[in-house]
Amino acid sequence: MWLHHHHLLLLVLPLLLCSPLPLAGAQSSEARSLDAILQEYAYRALVRPKTGTIYNATSLLPSNFTGVKVAALRLRSGSLRRRGVVPSYNEFEIPIGIIERPYVKRLVLVYQNLGNLSKRYYPLPNYTYLAPVLGLLAYNGSNLSATNLPTLNVSASADPIRVKFVDVRDPPLGAVARCVWFDLEGSSNFSNVTGGNTCSTSTQGHLSIVAETSVPPPPAPSLPPPVSPPPSPPPPVVPQESNSSNKVGVIVGSVLGGVVFLVLLCLLVLWVLKYKRNKRIQQMERAADAGEALHMANVGDTKAPAATVTRTQPALEHEYAP
Ligand SMILES: *[C@@H]1O[C@H](CO)[C@@H](O)[C@H](O)[C@H]1NC(C)=O
Ligand SMILES: *[C@@H]1O[C@H](CO)[C@@H](O)[C@H](O)[C@H]1NC(C)=O
Ligand SMILES: *[C@@H]1O[C@H](CO)[C@@H](O)[C@H](O)[C@H]1NC(C)=O
Ligand SMILES: *[C@@H]1O[C@H](CO)[C@@H](O)[C@H](O)[C@H]1NC(C)=O
Ligand SMILES: *[C@@H]1O[C@H](CO)[C@@H](O)[C@H](O)[C@H]1NC(C)=O
Ligand SMILES: *[C@@H]1O[C@H](CO)[C@@H](O)[C@H](O)[C@H]1NC(C)=O
Ligand SMILES: *[C@@H]1O[C@H](CO)[C@@H](O)[C@H](O)[C@H]1NC(C)=O
Ligand SMILES: *[C@@H]1O[C@H](CO)[C@@H](O)[C@H](O)[C@H]1NC(C)=O
Ligand SMILES: *[C@@H]1O[C@H](CO)[C@@H](O)[C@H](O)[C@H]1NC(C)=O
Repeated sequence: MWLHHHHLLLLVLPLLLCSPLPLAGAQSSEARSLDAILQEYAYRALVRPKTGTIYNATSLLPSNFTGVKVAALRLRSGSLRRRGVVPSYNEFEIPIGIIERPYVKRLVLVYQNLGNLSKRYYPLPNYTYLAPVLGLLAYNGSNLSATNLPTLNVSASADPIRVKFVDVRDPPLGAVARCVWFDLEGSSNFSNVTGGNTCSTSTQGHLSIVAETSVPPPPAPSLPPPVSPPPSPPPPVVPQESNSSNKVGVIVGSVLGGVVFLVLLCLLVLWVLKYKRNKRIQQMERAADAGEALHMANVGDTKAPAATVTRTQPALEHEYAP
C-alpha cells in the first residue's frame, strides 16, 4: 500500500512540476503548425477570389477553434508595393512599400485573430494579454489549393505596418501596456503602444498588447547547485540566435530542473526509509501475533499487516504527508 502511493507520487510529481516550463522551441513549433492549419482554411475561402477583396474564413474553421478568426486577401505583388491595402485589412494598416521575399507574382495575406487561444500558442510568462494575438502572414498566392506553404518574408521599406487593436483591456493598476511582437522562430520583442491601441511592425509575424504582471521574485536560486547534472539537462535543443526570452527560458529551465531533481531525490530517500520501517514493523507484528488480523484495526499510523492485502482500506488514504 505504501509502496503503491509513493510510486504514484513519484510518477505524478515531475509531470506537475515540469508542465509550466516555457519551452520556447516546442511552443514555437505548435504555433507554426497552427499557422499551417489556418493557412489551409484561409485559402479555402478563396474560391475564384477577386483581387483586393477580404475573404472571411472564420466560419470554415472546425468547432475546436471557436474564438479564432481568420481571413485571406489575395493581391498582386506589384499592387501591394505601390498601393498598400486601402483602407485597411481588419486591424492591419498596410502602407505602400511592402516587399516580399522571395518574390512571387501574387500573394495571399492571411489574417489571424487567435482570440482566447492566444495565451496557449504564445505563452508569455509574467505578462497578461490585454488584447488577442493578431497575425499577418504572407504566402505564395499562385496555387490556391497548396498546403504547407512556406511563409514569405515581408518587409516594410517605407512606413511600418500599423496594427490598431480594438477593445484593448486596461492594464492592471500600476502596470504599463506594451506591444509584443513574435517572430516565426518563437522569439519576442517589446515596444511602446502608441495612441492607446496601436502597435507597429516592419515585418510579418504576430502581435498583441500585454501588461507586465508584478510577481514576487521566486526563492529558488539559493539552492545548492552541484547536484543537478545527470537526470535533467536543460531542455532547449538548439540555442537559436541569442534572444533574451530563450536565454531566460534556459536559465528558468535549469533552475527548475535542479529543483525537480532535488525533490525527487528527497522523495526517494523518504520512500526508502518508510519502506524499510514498514517492513520491519510488519515483520515484528507478524512475529508477535501469528496472523490475528482483527487486533490491527486501531494501530492507525503504524500500519497493519492487513494493509498489505487489503488495497482499499480507508485509513490509509490520509496517511502520506511528505
Ligand atoms: C468574420 O466572420 C465571423 C463570424 O463568422 C465574425 O465574427 C467576424 O467578425 C468576421 N470578421 C470580419 C473581419 O468581418
Ligand atoms: C482541433 O482539432 C484538430 C484535429 O481534429 C487539431 O489538429 C487541432 O490542433 C485542434 N485545434 C485546437 C485549437 O485544439
Ligand atoms: C473561447 O471562447 C469561445 C467563445 O467565444 C468558447 O466557445 C471556447 O470554448 C473558448 N475556448 C477556450 C479554449 O477557452
Ligand atoms: C509560387 O507558386 C507557383 C505555383 O505553384 C510556382 O510556380 C512558383 O514557383 C512559386 N513561387 C515561389 C517563389 O515559390
Ligand atoms: C497546386 O497544389 C496542389 C496541392 O499541393 C497540387 O496538387 C497541384 O498540382 C498544384 N498546382 C499547380 C499548378 O502547381
Ligand atoms: C526570411 O527571414 C528569415 C529570418 O529573418 C531568414 O532566416 C531567411 O533567410 C529569410 N528568407 C529569405 C528568402 O529572405
Ligand atoms: C527588439 O527591439 C529593439 C528596439 O525596438 C531593437 O533594437 C532590437 O533589435 C529588437 N530585437 C529583435 C530580436 O528584433
Ligand atoms: C517608451 O515609453 C517610455 C515611457 O513611456 C519612454 O521612456 C521610452 O523612451 C519610450 N520608448 C520609445 C522607443 O519610444
Ligand atoms: C518573471 O519575473 C520574475 C521576477 O521579476 C523573474 O525572476 C523571472 O525570471 C521572470 N520569468 C520570466 C520567464 O521572465
